[in-house]
Amino acid sequence: MSRIRVHQHVNPLARHYLFISPPLNLKEIFANPDLPVHLDIGSARGRFLLSMAELDKETNFIGLEIRRVLVDEANRIARERNLTNLHYEFTNVLVSLKSLLQDFPENILKTITIHFPDPWFKKRHAKRRMITDENASILAFHLAKGGRIFLQTDVEFLAEEIAGKFREIKNLKEISITESPFPVKTEREKAVEAKGKPIYRFMFEKI
Ligand SMILES: C[S@@+](CC[C@H](N)C(=O)[O-])C[C@H]1O[C@@H](n2cnc3c(N)ncnc32)[C@H](O)[C@@H]1O
Repeated sequence: MSRIRVHQHVNPLARHYLFISPPLNLKEIFANPDLPVHLDIGSARGRFLLSMAELDKETNFIGLEIRRVLVDEANRIARERNLTNLHYEFTNVLVSLKSLLQDFPENILKTITIHFPDPWFKKRHAKRRMITDENASILAFHLAKGGRIFLQTDVEFLAEEIAGKFREIKNLKEISITESPFPVKTEREKAVEAKGKPIYRFMFEKI
């Protein structure tokens, strides 16, 4: 698998990223559009979803990512491996989440993962963070009953900030966890674990 050179971060508030993506059409992107959906926000090179889609053919996986070259390369690999249950979308979650999910059938979205939703640590960059109050509500609204949101990051204050937004949503119940429930680690997760740094993990279930 070749590695491509890409910008480390892009500013989601830059004018050319303020486009609204059209609604995701599950019939167009998946061979079996009726399968439950796992949505990964900030999928980067997409290797977590690639392995998950190979392991679980009864789920459709969607990765949302703002760095286009990563999305194109990840979709190329998914096609090469004939993974008809995997799709990556070039989008800016900060402005497009509502539109992207608007045509999802009720109760299809069973899992949402937010792995290391960094990098905007500085206070003056807070407006660039993709999990806003509005996005937390949109995610909770579309999540299926019994569906789960999983969040992990090594940046403690960001973990608390985002978890706090989900805690305020009435029909979400927090489930205490320490380990990831997934059989696959993300690239950032592996890197952080290799450094021996702590990872803060949270899970919420829709009741
Ligand atoms: C620190 S990386 C983590 C990547 C991966 N989830 C992992 O755990 O290895 C965060 C990712 O979120 C993406 N991202 C940040 N803001 C975004 C936005 N507004 N819309 C879509 N993707 C975004 C970044 O481009 C980056 O790929």
